[in-house]
Amino acid sequence: MKEDLKEIIFTEEQIKKRVAEIGAQINQDYVGKNPLMVGILKGSFVFFADLARCIDLKCEIRFIFASSYGFSYVTSGTVRIGTDLDFEIEGRDVILIEDILDSGITLSGVRKLVLSNNPSSLKICALLDKPTRRQIPIEADYVGFECPDEFVVGYGLDYAECYRNLPFVASLKPEIYA
Ligand code: IMP
Ligand code: MG
Repeated sequence: MKEDLKEIIFTEEQIKKRVAEIGAQINQDYVGKNPLMVGILKGSFVFFADLARCIDLKCEIRFIFASSYGFSYVTSGTVRIGTDLDFEIEGRDVILIEDILDSGITLSGVRKLVLSNNPSSLKICALLDKPTRRQIPIEADYVGFECPDEFVVGYGLDYAECYRNLPFVASLKPEIYA
């Protein structure tokens, strides 16, 4: 697997430190509240697992499945949201947890769905942000790192469902996805 990688972009140590900082910020921002933290599957699963253990609040943890990619490295342009919401959003302080904010298509689709269910508040937390690639204007309230405009894998992020298990974020050799 490692022979497919070009270079490590964010190391395990860098990620660990940054995730703890984001957790501390959320703890501060939501004092006295019980946020509803919603992970967007599948890419957020590693980030969310680590972030959740830095959260010191009584919070509810849920997941929804959304994807705009399919089996490819370019966005298909439409969001598929895989399940009906099987939990209440109305009146809740919702935090969406995503692996990476790229074109913005996935998160803006999910945001629309959440907002149509009348949350008390909504914030977005993304491990990585590629601001130069945005097709829809949307910003995250909590961002781990600004990511160079390269296709990256690891720490939950995949290419064709592989590499999610890498403990760091790395770029792939172009010949792997060419
Ligand atoms: P967006 O809808 O274009 O903002 O893309 C968000 C989703 O696309 C993320 O949840 C990822 O699943 C996927 N994605 C975007 N960029 C990358 C990347 O560099 N590597 C792996 N997945 C990515
Ligand atoms: Mg994803």
